[in-house]
Amino acid sequence: MIKKVSRIRLGVNIDHVATLRNARGTFYPDPLKMVKVLEKLRVDGITLHLREDRRHIIDKDVIRIIKETNLPVNLEMAATEEMLGIATDLVPNAVCLVPERREERTTEGGLDVISEEEKLKSFLQPLAEKKIRVSLFVSPELKQIEAASRVGATVVELNTGTFCDLLIAEEKEKYLVEFEKLTKAANFGQKLDLEIHGGHGLTYESVKYIAAIPEMTELNIGHFLISEAVFDGIEKTIYKMRQEIDNSQQSVGN
Ligand code: PXP
Repeated sequence: MIKKVSRIRLGVNIDHVATLRNARGTFYPDPLKMVKVLEKLRVDGITLHLREDRRHIIDKDVIRIIKETNLPVNLEMAATEEMLGIATDLVPNAVCLVPERREERTTEGGLDVISEEEKLKSFLQPLAEKKIRVSLFVSPELKQIEAASRVGATVVELNTGTFCDLLIAEEKEKYLVEFEKLTKAANFGQKLDLEIHGGHGLTYESVKYIAAIPEMTELNIGHFLISEAVFDGIEKTIYKMRQEIDNSQQSVGN
């Protein structure tokens, strides 16, 4: 039976517009300017990661973007008291909790929800009271997804990073195993009434696989889009990514 699911939402992560700005310590390129361009391109949301070390997005960016866009804003952050204060103060539409280590180049792995279950339960409560949608960024492991549901998350964002790396390395056996894990995790999560998102490392090639997972409702993509925009411009890049997602979704009859 063909399962009808609505079009996968595309959230664009704009962290690396800020990376470019911060490399020179100037005020351009302005992430808010990118948000305004993305509004015209009709993306479905803006994602930004306010890291503890403020290496790209800074507090002022979050404040200005939440105030000045009509697009849903998804704030990625670590589960710290400082970030909880910022989120409950600024009230983005959504928060995605991610693990964070200072020495990492980008988010590595997913949250260990199981070992932080009690802490996360009380962390999520004030966010829910502000009606902020909370997702947990997790590896495609059923036990972590079960724990995400127990702590009260309504969304899990499956970490597609390992799959994307293996695909680029052309490690076929391994990427097929990882893809199977993602497929099973998405199916399992949906059965627990969790909304299923995906993100990390996605490119035109890897998105073809991930958008074909029937339970997928939102993809958050950043580094590749900003990188491609250097050559092709952001309009063409978003258009092409959108097409890859739509084609892949249609090809499996979602
Ligand atoms: N989703 C999450 C939870 C992330 O941490 C990131 C990176 O900040 C992304 C999506 C976007 O990943 P990429 O920049 O590799 O597309």
